[in-house]
Amino acid sequence: MIRLDPGRPDVAEIRRAAEVIRAGGLVAFPTETVYGLGADGLSASAVGRIFAAKGRPQDNPLILHVATPEDAHRVVLGVPPLAQALMERFWPGPLTLVLPKRPEVPDEVSAGLATVGVRMPDNTIALTLIAESGVPVAAPSANVSGRPSPTSADHVIADLAGKIEMVLDGGPTTVGVESTVLDMTSSPPKVLRPGGVTVEELEQVLGDVAVASADFVAMGPVGPVPSPGMKYTHYAPKTPVVLVEGEMGAVANRILREVQARHAAGERAGVMCSRETEALYAGHADVVRVAGSRQDLSTVAAALFATLRLFDTDGVDVVFAEGFDQAGLGFAIMNRLRRASGGRIIHAHVESDVDVI
Ligand code: TXA
Ligand code: MG
Repeated sequence: MIRLDPGRPDVAEIRRAAEVIRAGGLVAFPTETVYGLGADGLSASAVGRIFAAKGRPQDNPLILHVATPEDAHRVVLGVPPLAQALMERFWPGPLTLVLPKRPEVPDEVSAGLATVGVRMPDNTIALTLIAESGVPVAAPSANVSGRPSPTSADHVIADLAGKIEMVLDGGPTTVGVESTVLDMTSSPPKVLRPGGVTVEELEQVLGDVAVASADFVAMGPVGPVPSPGMKYTHYAPKTPVVLVEGEMGAVANRILREVQARHAAGERAGVMCSRETEALYAGHADVVRVAGSRQDLSTVAAALFATLRLFDTDGVDVVFAEGFDQAGLGFAIMNRLRRASGGRIIHAHVESDVDVI
């Protein structure tokens, strides 16, 4: 593992990492969203090693990372005006654009699709690595498939030590949820995965934005699979997560009741909550972890995956996670929580729950 100053990284170290990429090796590196597991995006064999290291299903395509908007032209057939406008507004940043791919992009990257996802990350280490590699860098999140995405180099090591050549440690990532994946081949463009750029922000540029069906975005496919990654269980710690959605007071009451029931059954229960509700669980739940503040959902996004991972070391039998409002970044946060829960979702209602506690 190589430690770098995120603001002024040692370029000589990054050049060594770039050589590893050019030689067909795997380098984990920080982006503003999560750590990526990078390989030469034009080499089928290098990309094949990504799938092997992660245990990733072959039919889940990878995102190509570029160092400048111009470099996107190396991997996509054309950049239509709307895509150009989005690049100008959101790149570098957490937005992946899905566009028809050039034939040079190996089928292994696109998992056989005619399109490829491309993005320019907002992180100096990442941009230097990509530029020094001289190739588009294919990079999924640097976790074992199905686990919460890594937001620190330690998470990468925990999942992938011994399976990859190098980890560039640039400290914790800032956004904390992955990029928004936007299909530019449909009209209006369609959000396939909610992420760091919100639907509201996209609407400011596009006017109209479609969102892959709520059920699909929440849990996986209900029909054809526009974004293969959405059909797999994801983001899950080893400890089962139960998501409790609804109005804040009802959620807290319901979680307290569920914790009591678990205690009665001889189990230990953890709670993942907000700064605003933390005090309600003190003395009730066995472990209480605060993901962030409801007043600023960027704090929740930033801490979400790290917090989920921490519960695995707490020795609890179950984690009850509070839901958040769906507006803005809340959409991406709720998408990750729903999928981390694997469908264990309780809808708390004021009427049925308010009298209980
Ligand atoms: O923020 C991010 O996007 C991070 C960092 C490392 O850049 N990367 C990331 O990659 O989250 P990954 O592989 O974990 O997730 C990529 C998602 C998957 O859901 C995949 O199915 C979808 O993007 N995807 C990639 N290419 C696609 C394509 N051509 N069409 C539809 N969906 C695509
Ligand atoms: Mg991933």
